Amino acid sequence: MRALRGAGLRAPLSVAWLISWCSVIAGPPGEKMTAAAGSCIMLPGLDQLQGVSLMQWKFSEQYLVIYHVNNSSFPDVVDQDRFLFQKSNGSLQICRLKVNDSGIYTLIINMKKQNERSIQLEVVEPVSQPELWSNLSLIGLSTELVCSTSVEKVAKYQWKKDGKPLPIESHYQLSQNNSVLLILNTTWSDKGSYSCNVSNEVNWHEVSLELPVQQYRKRIWMLLPVGICMIAYVVTGFFIFKSSS
Ligand SMILES: *[C@@H]1O[C@H](CO)[C@@H](O)[C@H](O)[C@H]1NC(C)=O
Ligand SMILES: *[C@@H]1O[C@H](CO)[C@@H](O)[C@H](O)[C@H]1NC(C)=O
Ligand SMILES: *[C@@H]1O[C@H](CO)[C@@H](O)[C@H](O)[C@H]1NC(C)=O
Ligand SMILES: *[C@@H]1O[C@H](CO)[C@@H](O)[C@H](O)[C@H]1NC(C)=O
Ligand SMILES: *[C@@H]1O[C@H](CO)[C@@H](O)[C@H](O)[C@H]1NC(C)=O
Ligand SMILES: *[C@@H]1O[C@H](CO)[C@@H](O)[C@H](O)[C@H]1NC(C)=O
Ligand SMILES: *[C@@H]1O[C@H](CO)[C@@H](O)[C@H](O)[C@H]1NC(C)=O
Ligand SMILES: *[C@@H]1O[C@H](CO)[C@@H](O)[C@H](O)[C@H]1NC(C)=O
Repeated sequence: MRALRGAGLRAPLSVAWLISWCSVIAGPPGEKMTAAAGSCIMLPGLDQLQGVSLMQWKFSEQYLVIYHVNNSSFPDVVDQDRFLFQKSNGSLQICRLKVNDSGIYTLIINMKKQNERSIQLEVVEPVSQPELWSNLSLIGLSTELVCSTSVEKVAKYQWKKDGKPLPIESHYQLSQNNSVLLILNTTWSDKGSYSCNVSNEVNWHEVSLELPVQQYRKRIWMLLPVGICMIAYVVTGFFIFKSSS
């Protein structure tokens, strides 16, 4: 907004309010903007071009765009594929954003330092669809639920049980930045649907899992027929071996 200070003072109050409101939509001056990798973003230019003869967009030490307003020459754009410069207002659209496009972009007017307008852009990798799995949940033992995603920059893991936020109690223990949920001393009431919401500045994904709860003893009983069969198999094999030798 620094570049517009002169004009803003002269403008009527309502117009000044409108300009400030517009700049909130575009992001306040000296502003920060966040965008998802792969998407496009519009870095705002100026509200009016009166008295502007040269516009330059700079990223770090590199000039992205050089445009002489009085000159009929086309703007000099470093990468026509990804950068779209609007002559009408000086805005710069950047497409197919990469994480390393993050940094400070400066619009310089008439090569004057006091007319610079800077925008800090952060490009964030969107979170991928997470996976949710648990180990066997047995009554009286701990059950571990793990929510995992391939992207490192996860802002938040939020857990729900049966559609409601998990109550804060010692029965539930969250670790590894909340990506792992440990249910201590599992009970029948822990049966249900668990969901994990993974989010960052640019998007979110939710994944759910139906958690069954089993009695420990039941598993032993289930193994019994298998055990009997195995013993019978070994014994029969032994006799067959003995009678054939
Ligand atoms: C600049 O002009 C372009 C094309 O006319 C428009 O899409 C964009 O919204 C304008 N940006 C600002 C900040 O006024
Ligand atoms: C650019 O053109 C405007 C009028 O269109 C004029 O007032 C100004 O002096 C010119 N600037 C340069 C650097 O030629
Ligand atoms: C117009 O722009 C071209 C290329 O950027 C430059 O060589 C030329 O000197 C400019 N002319 C004026 C009058 O500024
Ligand atoms: C940014 O990353 C791309 C690949 O994603 C690479 O080709 C390019 O060289 C990198 N640029 C810089 C300045 O590191
Ligand atoms: C599930 O994982 C937790 C934590 O690693 C462990 O304490 C518990 O014994 C495991 N349960 C089973 C049935 O393996
Ligand atoms: C937890 O988050 C911090 C900061 O985002 C990160 O550096 C760290 O690697 C994360 N740890 C795990 C276990 O995900
Ligand atoms: C586990 O829960 C049962 C039933 O709620 C309770 O009787 C038992 O004391 C608990 N065990 C531990 C180690 O907290
Ligand atoms: C997931 O979390 C994000 C960020 O907190 C939120 O905006 C979104 O509504 C949540 N999704 C669901 C289904 O709760």
